[in-house]
Amino acid sequence: MARKDVLWVDQKSLSKDLSGKVYIVTGANSGVGLETTRQLIKQGGHVVMACRRVDAAKAVAVEFDHLAGSYEVLHLDLADLASVEAFAERFLKKYDRLDGLDCNAGMVSMENTVQRTKDGLEVTMGISYFGHFLLTERLIEILKKTPSSRMVILSSVVHAGSPKNRYDIHFDDLNYEKRQFNNFAAYGEAKVASVLYALELADRLKDHDVTTASVHPGWARSNFGGNGWMMKLMRVLLAPVYPFITNSNLESAQTSLHCLLSDDALNHSGEYFSQQSVLYRDKECRKGGWPMTSPNPNARDLDKAKKLVEKSYSVVGLKMA
Ligand SMILES: NC(=O)c1ccc[n+]([C@@H]2O[C@H](COP(=O)([O-])OP(=O)(O)OC[C@H]3O[C@@H](n4cnc5c(N)ncnc54)[C@H](OP(=O)(O)O)[C@@H]3O)[C@@H](O)[C@H]2O)c1
Repeated sequence: MARKDVLWVDQKSLSKDLSGKVYIVTGANSGVGLETTRQLIKQGGHVVMACRRVDAAKAVAVEFDHLAGSYEVLHLDLADLASVEAFAERFLKKYDRLDGLDCNAGMVSMENTVQRTKDGLEVTMGISYFGHFLLTERLIEILKKTPSSRMVILSSVVHAGSPKNRYDIHFDDLNYEKRQFNNFAAYGEAKVASVLYALELADRLKDHDVTTASVHPGWARSNFGGNGWMMKLMRVLLAPVYPFITNSNLESAQTSLHCLLSDDALNHSGEYFSQQSVLYRDKECRKGGWPMTSPNPNARDLDKAKKLVEKSYSVVGLKMA
């Protein structure tokens, strides 16, 4: 069912010829990433689908075989820093440009016990933020040398929290080693980190032709949250209103596509872009905005963003340039 309040990418951006351009979409086999990938290939682009389940990605990618552009599926497990390194190495060996890096993959744990990546990081932060951080840092030079390149990272409305409880970065315990674990707080914090990273990167790359953005895609009817009892119960309870408060995956891909393709996004590097969302606790944010001001002051703080990036270098084992 088409919703009247959805923000749609303009036709000029959707009719750009992307032949010769190369994109990476993480989590390209499902939901928002799948629809973002489809549109880029439709317009003639080449998309490297960076997925942890290569067979599943290849199975859905056959839908793209008749489109104007092309694709390649490469393995990437963001919960394993060695896999991120291996992906970056393979990509850099084969490609000499990167027009858009779409850091789309993410997860929320439905369990309230802490889970860890191969490197011992809390898994929500490990996948959504640290994995994408290492990936982006390893690809920064190729982004810099590609004219008008873009980096987009998926955040969420959840990063905003509420006026009484704004999520923040806990520098003394980024990975829930000391604090009581809360799965939704972990998700909120990972998505604050994503907004801050886009902000810091824009500042660091201001003398280069690279534009960054963080994105809330809307409430997507994707595979997000899995198919456990909690998600099933939520869908049953919300069934009468579900189509009116959620978005199709195509609708949810619009904000990422706007940031990857529109001319206007070039004027707003580092900013936060949001689809409309009933989930904002701050009513004035609900209509979204390309871009809009995050209601969470912790996600607008450049000093905090710089501190996070400095700390992230040591977490992923990189030296700062
Ligand atoms: N759905 C929403 O309402 C919503 C709202 C706000 C923000 N977001 C954000 O939007 C992004 C896309 O989510 P979606 O709604 O499209 O969900 P989705 O359908 O569950 O897709 C998530 C993608 O991330 C991939 N992924 C998960 N863990 C990974 C890992 N360790 N390594 C590599 N890839 C991994 C998944 O791979 P598998 O298929 O192998 O699991 C899948 O391809 C996420 O960052 C999410 O946080 C979603």
